[in-house]
Amino acid sequence: MNALSKSNFTELKNGVVLAELGGYGDGPYCAQHGAGAALVLMGTYIVDPGDKVPYPAKFVFKPDPSVYAPYLREHVQAARAGGAKVGVSVISIELQHALDFLVAAQEAGADYASLCAHSVMAMFTRNGLGEALCERGNSKFLQYWAKAMLKAVTIPVIFKIGLGDLPATIAAVDTLTEVGAPIVSINFENTTAGSAGLKALKQIAGHCLFLIAGGGIKDLEGARRVLDQGANAVAIGTAAMKKPALCGDIQRHLK
Ligand SMILES: Cc1cc2nc3c(=O)[nH]c(=O)nc-3n(C[C@H](O)[C@H](O)[C@H](O)COP(=O)(O)O)c2cc1C
Repeated sequence: MNALSKSNFTELKNGVVLAELGGYGDGPYCAQHGAGAALVLMGTYIVDPGDKVPYPAKFVFKPDPSVYAPYLREHVQAARAGGAKVGVSVISIELQHALDFLVAAQEAGADYASLCAHSVMAMFTRNGLGEALCERGNSKFLQYWAKAMLKAVTIPVIFKIGLGDLPATIAAVDTLTEVGAPIVSINFENTTAGSAGLKALKQIAGHCLFLIAGGGIKDLEGARRVLDQGANAVAIGTAAMKKPALCGDIQRHLK
């Protein structure tokens, strides 16, 4: 599926998304800090056969579904307790490992699958992944990953990309939209009034079907500012760590 119409995501429209936080965002964390949000994103989980990644161990799995499938079942169910839809975020240097993980997430009951395509970790960037996946020279590779993700699961896939050089970022968003990616998520880092992040958001928004935008949102005013520039939903990470009720409070005012 991953059929492409904005109307498919009315549950997320003007919604608050609890951003994925590697090291924190497991099921119980999402239930608590994303209670009342539209969507909570678990992870990002890293599938790493080499076990060398400098990352919280609980968020790193070997490419073995018999190990991560029970974890995903338990944590997706736990995340649901907050009432939000549940997504699972992943990254791996091996496409097949990422696909297997997302299939397991879908089987565990996840409503959304997310690929983290903005990491700056060397284990990814030296393989043309992470933030390198959205560089201009890598658009064929981005297409290849995106098509494979869209084929592997029937739940909607979110492609989380970084904000690099603006023309390159727009080109990456265009590539994703061309292959049928339904949702793009971008961390604009700073979305205060007059910021470069907010200006970039305005330019990018028309290039994808559904844009989740975040970066420094702390309150209702900040969320409204981001939606006013063309985002379809807002992602909140840091501020929701400090205030577990924040996502739900903002969501109540937005809807
Ligand atoms: C502690 C921490 C861990 C994070 N881990 C991840 C991650 O694993 N994957 C990811 O895509 N983004 C990760 N992020 C980025 C957030 O999802 C979010 O995009 C970013 O923090 C901007 O939103 P904010 O200003 O509301 O925190 C992390 C951010 C923080 C603060």
